[in-house]
Amino acid sequence: MKLKVELVPPESRKERPEDPLSLEFGSVFTDHMFAMFYADNEWKNPRIGPYSNLSLDPAALCLHYGQGIFEGLKSYRRGERVFLFRPRKNLERLNASAIRMVMPQIDIDFALEALIELLRVERDWIPELKGSSLYVRPTMIATEPKLGVRASHTYLYYVILSPVGPYFKEGFSPVKIMVSEKYVRAADGGVGQAKTIGNYAASLLGGKEAMERGYSQVMWLDSHERKYIEEAGTMNIFVLFDDELATPPLSGTILPGITRESAMQIAQDWGYSLNERPIAIDEVIDGIKSGKVKEIFGTGTAAIIAPIGELYFREKPHIVGDGTIGALSQRMFDELTGIQSGEREDTRGWVFEIE
Ligand code: COI
Repeated sequence: MKLKVELVPPESRKERPEDPLSLEFGSVFTDHMFAMFYADNEWKNPRIGPYSNLSLDPAALCLHYGQGIFEGLKSYRRGERVFLFRPRKNLERLNASAIRMVMPQIDIDFALEALIELLRVERDWIPELKGSSLYVRPTMIATEPKLGVRASHTYLYYVILSPVGPYFKEGFSPVKIMVSEKYVRAADGGVGQAKTIGNYAASLLGGKEAMERGYSQVMWLDSHERKYIEEAGTMNIFVLFDDELATPPLSGTILPGITRESAMQIAQDWGYSLNERPIAIDEVIDGIKSGKVKEIFGTGTAAIIAPIGELYFREKPHIVGDGTIGALSQRMFDELTGIQSGEREDTRGWVFEIE
């Protein structure tokens, strides 16, 4: 496939934000986007062109039955050098989500080439300021107009870019999370492990209620017993019990986070005893009370590492440790952001440099 590039004339380009750190996450978009279409069992017409509205039939299947998936990754700049963090992992996960949602596979090499080209075009949009990056949002949606419930025969894959600072308005400081027993995010056999749009829709009401009570996100419990922690709004969860770092296993209801996997690898390299195991919410609350729980943090592309300072469960707030950033959370944040931004040595081959 030959990639077509149609650039916005320099005089029509947008003004770039001066301070990406102060932007609300994902609220500003660059001048260009990548798009390609799927029909007759193949991807076609790959193009980098102006960022613009989509034209969709009102009966497009994504709008009615939620056949849509996406990814999130970040690009960093240090002087003239531009980096992506484990981009193939995201594209592989997109393909895994596509299988679950009966959507077509993309060619990872081609999608990566197109992304690299898009980032070359938008190089000046990649912020250099510490704590900022250019967030990359690959998206695939079903476009066929049809009201019968079945998988679409046509799709659109596109990539948009947004300069971002921290995901939470608090920045890198402890966030407050509310544990929900009322709602669940995903159930056994469902689509919890896929990065599909409906999972986020399912989380909104719980998220709204948490926010109304002053909490940033919800911690979800398993759908069967409401006993085990699963993940939080936009993050996987890690709990440090004394010297054991534990995180819930990928049981099918949890998003297989790339930051999660990276944090696990780093913790193991640092000599932590790392366990993927079911973690009962009672074990966490008891551990907070007894002091056995030293830290809790979330991991995610957008959130990176988010120290959790307070868990609200059954009408009671529980302060984790002394409510401040734990030593491991800080060390993990420094290590990950250092590697991602090219400041620290990348001994694991995770950083992908764009020439
Ligand atoms: C990410 O961390 O990249 C996510 O996809 C979470 C998000 C929905 C903001």
